[in-house]
Amino acid sequence: MADITDTAAAAKRAAGYMAAGMVEDGMVIGLGTGSTVYHTIECLSGRIRDGLSVYGIPTSYQTAMRAREYGIPLTTLDDNPVLDLAIDGADQVDPGFRMIKGRGAALTREKCVAAAAFRFIVVVDESKMVPKLSGTVPVETLPFATKPAMAQLRGLGCRPFIREAVKKDGPVITDNGNFIVDCQFNEIGDPAAIEAAIAAIPGVVESGLFTRFLGNTTVIVGDDKKCGVFNSADIIT
Ligand code: A5P
Repeated sequence: MADITDTAAAAKRAAGYMAAGMVEDGMVIGLGTGSTVYHTIECLSGRIRDGLSVYGIPTSYQTAMRAREYGIPLTTLDDNPVLDLAIDGADQVDPGFRMIKGRGAALTREKCVAAAAFRFIVVVDESKMVPKLSGTVPVETLPFATKPAMAQLRGLGCRPFIREAVKKDGPVITDNGNFIVDCQFNEIGDPAAIEAAIAAIPGVVESGLFTRFLGNTTVIVGDDKKCGVFNSADIIT
């Protein structure tokens, strides 16, 4: 079990565990990537030991490895193209449930899995809740077309940088064999328009802007004492 040493970690754990409690017997669930969903995996592991039967679809090699370690049976989108729910973290969430994801470079598989799910549960701590999306939007690009894609991204008003790896020389290579271009924006006035404009650039695989998961989304904001649970009725546009 993870060592909960500070309030933020306790908040992530509370949110992750609450999401795991929403999983029902027989479900196929999307397993997001990152430190908050780690706690969901941890909690699900205990529920599976107690008899819960579920299958998970991981959104990254890291999550697949963790899920196997914790005894969560895995399946694929090929075998289960429709999921009951997907659980994932986020880097920023605004009052309209628009999000930035992709700090861990798993944004493309995360978006595919969320789009295939009836319900999307986002688990965050309070620090991720922002009045306006701003800052870095990760974009996955084909290495072949990254330079021209960066020129077009610049035209959308951001400063794009190829993400550099740690403990490896050169760029981060995603689980799909692509690059990540981190696009630094000031305030993102119309996130849906920016998501669409980025998606239209040749060579872009996906962006970390998630603006289309509104009606079926639940946001769990963790706290070390009590979680806040927000549904589509709570969206402020
Ligand atoms: C992975 O690429 C990201 O989208 C994560 O889901 C996101 O960064 C949240 O991560 P944490 O739960 O670790 O903050």
